[in-house]
Formats: sequence, C-alpha cells, structure tokens
Amino acid sequence: LNVLFASSEVAPFSKTGGLADVAASLPQALARRGHNVSIVTPLYKHLDPEAMRLSRRLNPLEVPRKSKNQSKLEVTVWESRLDSGVRVFFIDAPEYFDRDGLYGYDDQSFDDNAERFAFFSRAVVELAISSPMAIDIIHCNDWHTGLVPIYGKHYYAEELAQTRYVMTIHNLAFQGKFDAKQFKATGLPRKYNADGELQDESGSLNYLAGALRYADLITTVSPTYAREIQTEEAGFGLHEILKSRKESIQGVLNGADYGVWSPDIDRFIEVRYTVETLNGKRQNKAHLQHSLGLPVRPTLPLVGMVSRLTEQKGIDLVVPAIRSLLSDLKDERDGFQLVILGDGPDKVLKELKQLEEEFPRRARIIGGHDEAMAHRIQASADMLLVPSRFEPCGLTQIYAMRYGTVPVVHATGGLADTVTDLRDDPENGTGFVFTEHNADALAGAIERAGSAYRNYRKWRPLMVRDMARDFSWRESAIRYEELFLTTITAE
Ligand code: ADP
Ligand code: GLC
Repeated sequence: LNVLFASSEVAPFSKTGGLADVAASLPQALARRGHNVSIVTPLYKHLDPEAMRLSRRLNPLEVPRKSKNQSKLEVTVWESRLDSGVRVFFIDAPEYFDRDGLYGYDDQSFDDNAERFAFFSRAVVELAISSPMAIDIIHCNDWHTGLVPIYGKHYYAEELAQTRYVMTIHNLAFQGKFDAKQFKATGLPRKYNADGELQDESGSLNYLAGALRYADLITTVSPTYAREIQTEEAGFGLHEILKSRKESIQGVLNGADYGVWSPDIDRFIEVRYTVETLNGKRQNKAHLQHSLGLPVRPTLPLVGMVSRLTEQKGIDLVVPAIRSLLSDLKDERDGFQLVILGDGPDKVLKELKQLEEEFPRRARIIGGHDEAMAHRIQASADMLLVPSRFEPCGLTQIYAMRYGTVPVVHATGGLADTVTDLRDDPENGTGFVFTEHNADALAGAIERAGSAYRNYRKWRPLMVRDMARDFSWRESAIRYEELFLTTITAE
C-alpha cells in the first residue's frame, strides 16, 4: 500500500505529546510490513532544514488559498528520513509556521489557527496529488488534518478517486473548534457552510466534526476509548456524529517504539539495564535523587509522573492526594519521594511547585518539556502516576512498564486497556488501578503501591512481569493494515 501519513507533530522533530511518538512509530511499523509510507508535517521555526540529516529540497508546491483572493502560496517541501528510511516531508510555509510553538496549550491559542491548519491540510492534499504514485491511504491525525478528506473529495474527486481517507482521533478534547465566522479560512465553497458540514452541535466551525463526516474510516487509539467517545460523557459534543458513524469506528491500541523507549538501549539514561541487571535501575534512581537534591534513599519508593499539565491529566487530584499522604509523616524512611516533569500553564505549575515548598526533602517539580528527563524519570522511578480524567491511549504507562516502573492509573480509556490491577489478578496484575476519579482514590492506589513496594519478594516479580509485557507495534500495525485493505475494497 502507498500511505501518506499526515500529522502536525512527529518525533523527534516536533512534539507536545504522544501524537508525535505515534506519528513516527506507526509509519515505521507499517513500512516494516512492506508498505510504502511517508509522513508529512509542518516545518516549525525550531527546525533547521539545512541541518537535518539527509534533508533535501523538493520542487515548490503551489497551494491554492481561496481565502486570500484566490492567491496561491508557493511553499518549499523538504525531505528528510527517519532512521528506518521512512521519508518525512516538511511543509515550509514561514507565514504560518515560522513562530514559537506549535499551537500553544489549546487549539485556539494562535488567532489564525483555523487558517494555519486549513493551509497545512490543503498542502497535504497537494502533496498527494504531486506524488508520482497513486496514494491508497491518506492517514489523517486529529483536527489539524481534519480538512484533508473534504479537500481531497471536493477538489480532486477524480484525481484521488482511488484514495481513501482515514482519520485517527488521538484526543477528542481537541477539535479545531472556531467561531463560525472563520469559515472563510477553509476556502471551501459556501454550500459546505450552509449545509453545516463543518459544524458541530453548538454551531461552531469544527474541523474534526468535518473529518468525522468525510473520512472513510475513523479510528481511535484504544478499544475502550472507541466505546467511550460514543457516549455523551466522553463525546465532547461530537458523540452524535460519532454514533452515526458507528460502523466505521475502530479502536486500535497504540504501540511503543522500543527502539527509543527501552532501558537496555536508552541513550538518555545514566545506566542501561535489563531484567537481569536491575541494579542498573537502582543506580539511575540514585543519580536522579542526587541531581535533584533529594536525599539518596534506595529503599524509599520514588514516584514519577511525566505529563502535559492539562485538565485531562488529573493534576488537580495529584496535589491533594500527595499532600494527604506526605503530611504528618514522622520518619523520613516512611512514605515516598515524588518527581513530576510537566509542561503547561504557569498557574498549574505554581500549584505543583507548592508541593515542593511544603515537602522540600520529598518532592521535585520540573517545568517544561525535557525529552531526556522524561527518559530518566522512566528509568529511575519505582512507580509512574497516570491519574488522567480520560485517556485515549496513554503512552507513558506503556513505556513505564518496559522500564520496570509500575503504573498507578485511573481506569479509563487506554489506561484500562493496558494496566491490570494487582488486586484483581495477583498472578498477572501489572499495576495499581483506581476507579473513582478523586484524590482519595488516587491516594489509596499510591498507598497500595507503596506497601507492595516494601515487600521486595512481591515487588520484583511485578517489575519483571511489567518489563516482559509487549506493546510493540507489530499487532497494531497488522490491524491498521487489515482496516486499510477493507476500506479500500469497500464500496
Ligand atoms: P498525551 O499525548 O496525551 O500527552 P501520552 O501518554 O500519549 O499523552 O504521550 C505523552 C508523551 O509526551 C510521552 O512520550 C511523554 O514522555 C511525553 N511528555 C509528556 N510531558 C512531557 C514533558 N514535560 N517533557 C518531556 N516529555 C513529555
Ligand atoms: C493523545 C492522547 C493520548 C494518546 C496520544 C497518542 O495525545 O491524549 O492518550 O496516547 O494522543 O495517540
């Protein structure tokens, strides 16, 4: 199959969250199965095309812009490759992407986001058109590429008659929702507006809503989340559209790229280790405790968290839960230490920092995005918190297991699909799961993890089991392949 994978972020070039990891690892997994896959993404300001290995300039792409007096914008397309050889095309449109940040903390943060990602989507379609071989699948991801199916079907019905459009929802909370007045940013004929093709139930312009109507196949990143989004509680206002497309929605669990996330090869960590050399994990822990100025205590559990700091991630539970657990501890050998790496608004970071002030010998909060630190925490911590309110898939708990870092998670979405509670299944359990989404329940799960940790005869087999869990992409890539083939052959 010829697949063009379109994503607003691709690791290691640009990343705010798990989408970037998937946008690099899924295409490579499909390529390993013999498919011809390339990736297309914007060239952001922090990327220097000249410095990128193997990058080369392609012919300029002329992207029509109906919203700006029918003018066309000539953009440069740069080509680079991932380690496996999978090609990555970068759309170089300085007017839209030569600025700090990808989109900010929510999808409205740049005033012209409607136009920026309409433009990117149009560029994706133009790239498909300019491709020397017919593209079978354009794989779109989240709202940033939401207009791709509509553009393809409207402007190039004939040229792309063989092409099928897949939309993967990584996070339904982000929809590309704009004031209806911004419709002209799409450049589409007014009838699409009149017919409400790009509208959601609130009457807003909504790129994801449009994609959900026009895509040939809709997937999301775990089976549980695929069910959840068809309910009012988790459907973020789009559940009716989703329900109407029930037959075309599939949940395929994300995989992990163990070429990047594995303690035996991790290039960011102090000491590499395997299940046979678990002492390496203890050394990483000591290094981290020392470098963060925490007391170096091998037997005190180190609780980690690596997260965007948004509503979704349940930060509001973390502060009270930790406070209730760490207050009134008499002995420094009791309880645990905590390290949180989080990127998000100052306000949230400040609340977290308060924990550090209250518990200076226990808690460290590291603000900002720090790839190396994310790996070091995975390798050093004994447990990893993922108390998300909702979680389409979640990758940090999957990575944690490979590092022998036991996940403590809320039973939702992909977290429920990837972690089994030790209490429910003492033989095969892989972590600690809480059901009610509140601070007490989180505290209870951390406490259970803490007491299990103190019994090494019980804890060690748990770590070993987690490290042996296999979430590599193989199975999921096969599933995508089957779905692509079915979509192509369907009427
Ligand atoms: P989401 O995509 O919702 O943010 P995931 O668990 O799927 O959640 O993916 C998060 C990805 O982003 C992981 O690769 C994780 O290591 C990374 N990450 C999250 N926050 C940070 C941070 N502050 N610094 C570095 N990496 C981070
Ligand atoms: C989103 C989701 C996360 C998922 C990631 C990759 O950002 O919030 O749960 O793992 O996309 O699919």
